[in-house]
Amino acid sequence: MQKLTERIFAVGVQNPTLRVFDIIMQTEYGTTYNAYLVKGDQKTALIDGVHARFFDVLMKNLEAAGCQKVDYLVVNHAEPDHSGAIAELLKVFPDMEIVATPGGLKNLEQITNRPDFKRRPAKEPLDLGGVTLQFEAAPMLHWPDTMFTSCPEEKVLFTCDFLGAHYAEAVVVDTEVKYPDRYMHGFTGYYQAIFGPFKPFVLAGLAKVEAFAPAMVCPSHGPVLTETLPKVMELYRTWSQPQPKGRKAAVAYVSAYGCTRTLAEEIAKVLTEGGAEVDLFDLLDRPCPAAAEAVMSADLVFVGTPTINRDALKPVWDLMTSLDAVNTKGKPVGIFGSYGWSGEGVPMISARAKSLNMKVLGEVRAVFVPSEADLQAVRELAAAGLKELG
Ligand code: FEO
Repeated sequence: MQKLTERIFAVGVQNPTLRVFDIIMQTEYGTTYNAYLVKGDQKTALIDGVHARFFDVLMKNLEAAGCQKVDYLVVNHAEPDHSGAIAELLKVFPDMEIVATPGGLKNLEQITNRPDFKRRPAKEPLDLGGVTLQFEAAPMLHWPDTMFTSCPEEKVLFTCDFLGAHYAEAVVVDTEVKYPDRYMHGFTGYYQAIFGPFKPFVLAGLAKVEAFAPAMVCPSHGPVLTETLPKVMELYRTWSQPQPKGRKAAVAYVSAYGCTRTLAEEIAKVLTEGGAEVDLFDLLDRPCPAAAEAVMSADLVFVGTPTINRDALKPVWDLMTSLDAVNTKGKPVGIFGSYGWSGEGVPMISARAKSLNMKVLGEVRAVFVPSEADLQAVRELAAAGLKELG
């Protein structure tokens, strides 16, 4: 527990030993589940909850902050790392009103399995007595339900995941961080994993923060932001700039005996001759996440897989399950590969590309060593790709 301003207290918890978050994110510096208590003259509000496993720690921190009763729980975003403890919190404070967006309130019905909880849609300012809370929807940062909460009297903005970091150190405020390089590493990975798919929304979120001009930003993970706020906002802005459409093509493949590689090289040759900037690579040499980043930054994609034991190859599946599925819609892709028996690999990867809403330009399968007809087929596939580049 730490007092941040006259009326605001940090009452969240640290989880420094966490090494994997949400299954896919490596968290080598652990994380924190930040929660904040705002004490008015008449009412008390808790902003954000914590992971279910840390309910007891939250209760101890509330007690340390002198909180006897929570009148309002403001849920900026209902993902269970922040909402998991709410069902237990409702048992302690059954009259607590939950304030959230309509989407957030609906999520909480299923998360708490207490659809009868008292609620207040986050619209009008909430007067706690001498201090108010105001709410602003911030959709897709990073869920549809997300909102920002502000406290104008204290010049504090609560942004939930936005501008956060998976970083646990025995400090609360950015100016106290002893290992800034580690923090920035955690901050960067957090942005890439959580906000990378939502760049236009990130720019909208930055505009909301600027409009409020806070002295302090309280995110739900990592340090509270004061002196470092301009720097981290600038990083978000830089990372979220739209990329101009170009003529970049990625050709990713694996090849057991060089047959699929031959097809890949023929595609790359046609693309290069057609004026594309071609990135041809073997997925064994460049595994994910670098391979996925190359594909996501390309305007045109080709993926090559042999077939072994009736399946596409694991490095190719790794690629296809590492793409930013939010932003694959319409990305043109051609699928190709050599096989010996039955050739399931190519249609499997093609089906995966379609399920990602990519624009599948075609499939080419060669039996064993590519014939002249097979090479002609991939030349035509590459030519179809060049048309997509315009
Ligand atoms: Fe930290 Fe999206 O929850």
